Amino acid sequence: EKGGYEHFMLKEIFEQPQTIFDSFRGRLDVDQPLLTLSGLETIKDKLLAARRIIIVACGTSWHAGLLAEYLIEELCRVNVEVEYASEFRYRNPIIDENDVIIAVSQSGETADTLVALENAKKQGATIFGIVNVVGSSIARMADAGAYTHAGPEIGVASTKAFTAQLVVLELFALKLAEMKGTISTARLRELTAALHAVPEQVQWILDNQLENIKQVAAKYKDARDFLFLGRGYNFPIALEGALKLKEISYIHAEGYPAAEMKHGPIALVDENLPVVFVATQDPFYEKVVSNMQEIRARKGRLIAVVSEGDTVAEQLAEDVLTVPKSHEMISPLLAVIPLQLLSYYVGIELQLDVDKPRNLAKSVTVE
Ligand code: F6R
Repeated sequence: EKGGYEHFMLKEIFEQPQTIFDSFRGRLDVDQPLLTLSGLETIKDKLLAARRIIIVACGTSWHAGLLAEYLIEELCRVNVEVEYASEFRYRNPIIDENDVIIAVSQSGETADTLVALENAKKQGATIFGIVNVVGSSIARMADAGAYTHAGPEIGVASTKAFTAQLVVLELFALKLAEMKGTISTARLRELTAALHAVPEQVQWILDNQLENIKQVAAKYKDARDFLFLGRGYNFPIALEGALKLKEISYIHAEGYPAAEMKHGPIALVDENLPVVFVATQDPFYEKVVSNMQEIRARKGRLIAVVSEGDTVAEQLAEDVLTVPKSHEMISPLLAVIPLQLLSYYVGIELQLDVDKPRNLAKSVTVE
């Protein structure tokens, strides 16, 4: 059942070239380019009229939602808010029939997300579900939706479901931008081509980075804390990297926007603190490099996720995890892979139960 892998988590990480492909299969024709997301078309009028989109989720799914905020605002020029379901649910939010809510959930059963949506639906909002488990409660209560098609995820820590959520959210953003006329054909072509290349690029990481990542995991396994930093589209990936490490290794880890570290977390930096920068090529790269220099000046131990061919970040960092070059809006899908593997191998080094971390349940059906 683990298909020859030692753990479900590793199997599911390795399935990602296929599951990422499955989540855009039949929805993306790069030659045209043509996007088909039938669920989205059924709520077209609501979406075009909406003055804002609210994304509701928990945990890893919330991180996918945060990245979608950046993507949708940039591509579609519409306001997006991202909400923790547990907070949204209890604070009497202002919602009406002009609101479209995107619910992101692997299980489709997370109690806080489900109840938050039910409340919003009563107030007239339209619900679009991005769900993995077919026929789950959230899938059934949504007005429309798009399944992520990642297949069953058994490992408690979400891996392949997260990348599938990102793919569907990318498609959502591109399709909405196309409907609103806020994207040029050239940009659409560039982004769909970049998305189409992802399965092969993830395979490249799996084929070429494993030994390196294992060594990095062995080297830092005894750290007490970790800091994960990123900017822009890579900020949600920093949060996700920190969450994965906490769950799997029980090492305290925090994700932060790289520039925000000056406002507090930099006080933690000393020669014992590993600081992971998500530093792939994007418009923020120069800024990220200067944040890296600040950490280095304080003797923090720099680990960087970099794009292939990078020489600057590579020289600054003590260790690098390399991913193929991609478009800045697509490369988070690549950058998260070495971070998933890093937490897996740290957990293995520490001889922990990586598939069933203590105190966690696969789906949180109580609040
Ligand atoms: C993290 C993780 C959790 C879930 C969260 C939401 O690895 O698995 O943070 O992402 O409980 O679950 P779903 O997506 O099922 O609503």
